[in-house]
Amino acid sequence: MRHDIRLAVNGRSETVEGVAPHTTLLNWLRARGQTSVKEGCAEGDCGACTVMIGEPKLGGGFDWRASCSCILVVPQLDGRAVVTAEGLRAADGSHHPAQVLMAEGGGTQCGFCSPGFVMALANLARQPERDDETILDAISGNLCRCTGYRPIIEAARALPHFTAPSDEAPLAADLVARTAEAVDYTAVGGRFIAPNDLEAALAARIAHPDAWILAGGTDLGLRITKRHEVPRTLLWLGRIAALREIAETKNGVTIGAGATYEDALPALDRLHPRLATLVRRIGGAQIRSVGTIGGNLGNASPIGDSAPALIALSAEVELAAPGGKRRRVPVEDFFTGYRKTVLKPDELIFAIHIPKPHAGASFHTYKVARRVDQDISAVCAAFRVRVENGKVAEAVSGWGGVAAQPVRARAWEKAMVGKPWTAATVQTAKAMLFASDVKPISDFRGGAAYRNTVCAGLVERLWHEVSNDVPAASLEAV
Ligand SMILES: Cc1cc2nc3c(=O)[nH]c(=O)nc-3n(C[C@H](O)[C@H](O)[C@H](O)COP(=O)(O)OP(=O)(O)OC[C@H]3O[C@@H](n4cnc5c(N)ncnc54)[C@H](O)[C@@H]3O)c2cc1C
Ligand code: FES
Ligand code: FES
Repeated sequence: MRHDIRLAVNGRSETVEGVAPHTTLLNWLRARGQTSVKEGCAEGDCGACTVMIGEPKLGGGFDWRASCSCILVVPQLDGRAVVTAEGLRAADGSHHPAQVLMAEGGGTQCGFCSPGFVMALANLARQPERDDETILDAISGNLCRCTGYRPIIEAARALPHFTAPSDEAPLAADLVARTAEAVDYTAVGGRFIAPNDLEAALAARIAHPDAWILAGGTDLGLRITKRHEVPRTLLWLGRIAALREIAETKNGVTIGAGATYEDALPALDRLHPRLATLVRRIGGAQIRSVGTIGGNLGNASPIGDSAPALIALSAEVELAAPGGKRRRVPVEDFFTGYRKTVLKPDELIFAIHIPKPHAGASFHTYKVARRVDQDISAVCAAFRVRVENGKVAEAVSGWGGVAAQPVRARAWEKAMVGKPWTAATVQTAKAMLFASDVKPISDFRGGAAYRNTVCAGLVERLWHEVSNDVPAASLEAV
């Protein structure tokens, strides 16, 4: 068992001791003088604090991701390499192409957002191929208030492919060798426990019932930075390989609760492209690089985006208890109320099983938010529909933002299945939806009346898409 945190910053291996476990990476870096890392929002929304985080890969070297340093706590970097704008210079002192292109192309004015954009672009430069879609995706988590995005996008278009410097592979190997042991770190009255396997994590959960179960921290981090809560104990699941597995079978895909959105996307692109489209609208790239589907279900938010889609796909959550015990719960039964789930005090979310839809079924997801990128839903709906010989053979629908918890629209489904696929059926079912399934509330994301109108519109949209076989993506662009 190790009692310190080992990471690398800008190419140098370091050991951390005496730093409170809930200290954010942003605050820690800035206190050390890495002040290129800016604090804009302290909630993952603006990208000013973006750094590159490298996780050693099995075959050697690092898998690099851009992430927000403001909502990660320092011990979450154990075994990882962090690069800030200060660390981008090459050995000969020359600036990184992302820095040169941003400066020379007029991509920076007041400069507050610029290090964050540079880090997002430096991370993008590692990708051998990129197009405008990947460029926009890479910077969708970064806000600039003065320059305008055109020169930034042009800088991204002009980026050369940046290959890993020769000293990266030895650094990665060194980190792996130095961080094999599990972590139990205590400092300034706080404790950070990071077991290497599931049984140890379940034992720690029982031994520390008040511990925050930490995955990516994109929800929990805000409790620290916005609500100023100080966790006594953090139980981090990020070292447990079994939680990060993604397995595709002929029946569907199983995604480990600790797999990040970014890790899950290739499998979702293959099996459920429309779910992948929805996932690409969860936060920005810096959030998807660390946020997990397990965390999205675990926080049991009524406006979490994955739940409606998983309900419509008849997905199941697999829960693990000590002694290898497992149980599966349909996603719609996982939630029991506002931010409440069936998870028992000795359980952890282990995986999410998403079946392959029936050959003739179509799947539709709609996220309605104030803007396309980096925004939480006002309403999110998903439908799985199969029409055979003019009749509805299958209709399953999940909704978010319409009740205290994500819901399955059973009354709507009952009014659809077995009926002819006609405008009259859709109207009758819509009435049932409002009578039983959907009871939106008013909050700052939208009033109840607005949400009701949105829900009605989404049912109409489904009718048009299924009737006319319109690809969801084309309507997404409207
Ligand atoms: C800027 C920003 C934008 C966002 N945009 C969206 C969005 O568009 N749509 C959306 O749905 N969400 C969004 N979120 C919320 C968040 O990113 C997601 O909910 C994410 O999936 C949480 O995953 P995580 O791994 O970071 O969870 P964490 O913060 O680590 O944990 C979240 C909760 O789940 C619990 N938990 C995590 N893993 C397990 C497990 N294995 N077993 C039991 N409990 C567990 C934790 O204890 C905690 O209660 C956004 C957040 C930010 C900061
Ligand atoms: S400070 Fe805004 S995303 Fe971190
Ligand atoms: S240059 Fe001022 S916020 Fe972007």
